[in-house]
Amino acid sequence: RTLRIGLIPGDGIGREVIPAGRRILEALPKSLGLSFSFVDLEAGFETFQKTGAALPEKTVDTLKQECDGALFGAVSSPTTPTKGYSSPIVALRKRLDLYANVRPVKSVKNTTMFPDPIDLVIVRENTEDLYVKEEKTYDTENGKVAEAIKRISERASSRIATMAGDIALRRQRVRDSTGQTGKSANVTITHKSNVLSQTDGLFRSTAREALAQAQFKGVTVDEQIVDSMVYKLFRQPETYDVIVAPNLYGDILSDGAAALVGSLGLVPSANVGEGFAIGEPCHGSAPDIQGQNIANPIATLRSVALMLEFLNEEKAAALIYKAVDANLEEGKYLSPDMGGQAKTTEVVEDILRRM
Ligand code: NAI
Ligand code: MG
Repeated sequence: RTLRIGLIPGDGIGREVIPAGRRILEALPKSLGLSFSFVDLEAGFETFQKTGAALPEKTVDTLKQECDGALFGAVSSPTTPTKGYSSPIVALRKRLDLYANVRPVKSVKNTTMFPDPIDLVIVRENTEDLYVKEEKTYDTENGKVAEAIKRISERASSRIATMAGDIALRRQRVRDSTGQTGKSANVTITHKSNVLSQTDGLFRSTAREALAQAQFKGVTVDEQIVDSMVYKLFRQPETYDVIVAPNLYGDILSDGAAALVGSLGLVPSANVGEGFAIGEPCHGSAPDIQGQNIANPIATLRSVALMLEFLNEEKAAALIYKAVDANLEEGKYLSPDMGGQAKTTEVVEDILRRM
């Protein structure tokens, strides 16, 4: 099987970590029967300054027509509202209907201050909530007022909860097959329906209903209000398995959860739709460290593995995860965000050697 992968480095350290993602795909053993072809695609603020579009149509068309999956680095956003600019990754998620943002957070020895291993996944709804970006500002007697629409639909809530249930079952299968015990398949529904009884109320009841279907009878379901969720996530992260959340809460929870395992530079994500996945490190374009070859490539390498999982190449994904974990556990080639001195390329080479 040959997979065609779109490479979208974007801005800043995206240009340093996406080439690492390509190298790891090229280094997968031939015995997997898997090969790759690549197509370089543009998006981001520099692209916007050059062409007037942050997400050129050619990028969207190529992804739709030619690609099986893609890797997205990060893009810089202008610090003040810039006419005509809007975030390309938000647009891509919409255009390709990548309705789920999946963010695993896993500790490896040496990367966390928590005694018990952390191994959870945040499944964030990716298409609606406050991120429909329907905002307006108007004048009143007392000055300006700004408003934003928070849209929650049954369809989106149901399919994201179903995805969360599927992921919980898949994780259980992996744990069973590797003899791990102690955790059972669970989905925690996160919301704030005590205050937002209609929007978050609909998310909550729809997710409950979706997870009550027969195929999820092996999955336990609980729920938690988002603010107390943050508290408990920081006190007892080891107790969570799969967390499902509307867009905004999921965004915030997953960056916060990244802090539990050492560095934003370690945490991957995937934007997933029907038959298509874009791997994307959770971090941004990190202008403070760009161009120095010191960005941590691991978030991207894990995003490559996550993309492969959703393209049903679980064996290839497992090889990458294992090599990355071994690099972190040994701790000899760590980038500066992890307290080490290794360059981006040295971390990548150590991981390639282990593969
Ligand atoms: P950021 O994630 O770029 O950086 C936050 C801090 O973490 C910085 O100190 C940075 O050096 C460090 N960091 C991030 N990734 C790292 C890595 N791989 N290795 C080592 N250190 C790493 O977030 P920030 O500073 O808020 O945003 C910078 C730019 O990125 C902004 O223009 C923002 O809009 C954009 N951004 C883009 C995202 C995307 O494209 N998906 C997501 C988040 C931010
Ligand atoms: Mg974010």
